[in-house]
Amino acid sequence: MPEAIHILGMMSGTSADGMDAALLRWTGEGPGSLLGHWHSPYPPDFQEQIFAAQGSVSATILARLDRQLGLRHGAFAVELQRQGASFDLVAMHGQTVLHQPDDPYPHTLQIGSPYDLAEASGVTVAHDFRRADLCVNGQGAPLTPLYHQVLLARSEPILVLNLGGMANLSWIPAHGSTAPLQAFDSGPGNVLLDAAVQWLSQGKLRFDQNGHWAHTGQVNEEVLSRWLRWEYFQKPPPKSTGRELFNQGLVQELWQQWQGSQADFLATLTALTARSIAQAVQDWLPPARKMLVFGGGARNLLLMEQLRLALPEIVMETGDVALGIPVEALEAMAFAWLGGQCLLGFAPALAGVTGQQHPMVLGSLYPGRNWSSLCAAISPWHAARITPLDNAQ
Ligand SMILES: Nc1ncnc2c1ncn2[C@@H]1O[C@H](COP(=O)(O)OP(=O)(O)OP(=O)(O)O)[C@@H](O)[C@H]1O
Ligand SMILES: [Mg+2]
Repeated sequence: MPEAIHILGMMSGTSADGMDAALLRWTGEGPGSLLGHWHSPYPPDFQEQIFAAQGSVSATILARLDRQLGLRHGAFAVELQRQGASFDLVAMHGQTVLHQPDDPYPHTLQIGSPYDLAEASGVTVAHDFRRADLCVNGQGAPLTPLYHQVLLARSEPILVLNLGGMANLSWIPAHGSTAPLQAFDSGPGNVLLDAAVQWLSQGKLRFDQNGHWAHTGQVNEEVLSRWLRWEYFQKPPPKSTGRELFNQGLVQELWQQWQGSQADFLATLTALTARSIAQAVQDWLPPARKMLVFGGGARNLLLMEQLRLALPEIVMETGDVALGIPVEALEAMAFAWLGGQCLLGFAPALAGVTGQQHPMVLGSLYPGRNWSSLCAAISPWHAARITPLDNAQ
């Protein structure tokens, strides 16, 4: 029986800042262990191209971007192999260009050709994790909280916050508790801040480094309390969101109505991000004494300070300080794990998260040149257990 396989998780989130990769050693159960993590940034013009594809664009533009993303992922994986990283499976999230779970025909679309990645690296790829969940009436997002639970559950309940483009909140029950895992997107993470900084700096800056710019401004409490009444914040979970709702267009509209300085605008958007998360914790989740924060937004010192002010009763720590888990790596680790679930035909149970009616295997497999050896390596695992897929039927 193989002791372990190595899975490379590749995550390119809604911020479209680049690709995060995490290499996981996984024994077929448990969260696996992190062997390394890397980041490959997208150049600003490529980021712009991704944002532009999120409007109404032709199939040609989408199909070309799909290839470009696939080739970029492939080149990144090959670069890691050159540096000595070795993996049996790549789990590729892809770039979300559409996420409309509440449409009459709920849909979500992550692009980036997995064939280019399999061809370049020679390794089998798992991809397209979200669409399956929509088939069982789930939101297709967030998908990573079950991994957060497997990795982070402790003797008392904790909150996990991922500050990516959107903010994903998980409430993780204590070890051994029968209480269900609960999670949803509370709303914007970095998305409005990034859009405002890019707009106000006329593209010279991509984000507010450490929150320094916003720190020079004052929060406009009156405007903030109006923004906090937006419909999405009032909606009960299950819920997930994306750039369809929180985007550059919204920021430009808010800026046109704004009477005050640029720094005050940024300070108020930072406070909106922090306070909408705090509101969601208070409105929709059971109590917890501790919150672990991950994602690029954990590096925004002002955002972290405002979160602490908004939730004074909760001890808040970033994942790297509390547990030595790099804040940039968690979502890529989660997709590596989801890739392993897909490979073994395990169906992650996400009813309390996405609202799915029953578990379903998430993702598709794209065999690479290592397919036969990978199948041979994992076949004893299959033989040795009844898979949860069998259980689900
Ligand atoms: N030093 C920093 N100061 C302030 N903000 C930062 C810093 N470093 C990163 N960020 C923010 O983090 C964002 C990237 O975070 P991350 O990669 O976690 O988000 P993402 O790509 O949207 O991922 P996902 O949607 O999967 O969570 C950047 O766009 C930026 O807003
Ligand atoms: Mg990112």
